[in-house]
Amino acid sequence: MTAYRIAPSILSADFARLGEEVGRLEAAGADMVHFDVMDNHYVPNLTVGPMVCEALRPHTSLPIDVHLMTTPVDELAVMFAKAGAAIITVHPEASQHVDRTLSLIREHGCRAGLSLNPATPLEHLDHVMDRLDLILVMGVNPGFGGQSFIPHALAKIAAVRERIDAHRASGGQPILLEVDGGVKVSNIQAIAEAGADTFVAGSAIFGAPDADGGYHGVMGALRRELSDVGQQERAA
Ligand code: DX5
Ligand code: ZN
Repeated sequence: MTAYRIAPSILSADFARLGEEVGRLEAAGADMVHFDVMDNHYVPNLTVGPMVCEALRPHTSLPIDVHLMTTPVDELAVMFAKAGAAIITVHPEASQHVDRTLSLIREHGCRAGLSLNPATPLEHLDHVMDRLDLILVMGVNPGFGGQSFIPHALAKIAAVRERIDAHRASGGQPILLEVDGGVKVSNIQAIAEAGADTFVAGSAIFGAPDADGGYHGVMGALRRELSDVGQQERAA
């Protein structure tokens, strides 16, 4: 049985109440907090830096999953490691020396991830599989929450799953397969069936709060969809 993880993206949270928001996510059973960092250079939007990560750290016991959409990236990766990140994911186009960046993240005590945009070829994984703890497949072009999932990302997820399974079969370390962008209650099952085990969701979660402002309802709906994964194949 695959262990599925849900990582709400605080990009769609109430930024005036971030501490409370992560508390509510934890109460609703989130597995990680996805922290989107945008620099108005690599992507056309600007969010938050390491100071906000450090301020948030005492408000949750969940791992903070930092997604760096910035270039350059190395110095910021180190700053986020010091600010309490558990996982740091970078984009290959944003680093001059991807092998060095991934090593730097691990040297600073974090797990290292590499993110593939919709048009980024899988070949970027070729020589760095040993350096990775997570591969993130983007379901949208990075920069904004609330976009629609690009359907051809499903084939890319399946191809990355094959690479991870082959790596494991030849004695390699475990690697999470995370999907980010456009994940909803209506498509999370198909994304899991394609091979993902870790799901980032922003607008799907923050756009559907319970009456008391919590997130149990939508988190429960996402989990129910995941509990049905593979049901049809098993019944056949
Ligand atoms: C997009 C970000 C995502 C985004 C997801 O650039 O990396 O994490 O917040 O938002 P939704 O779930 O709304 O697509
Ligand atoms: Zn993200």
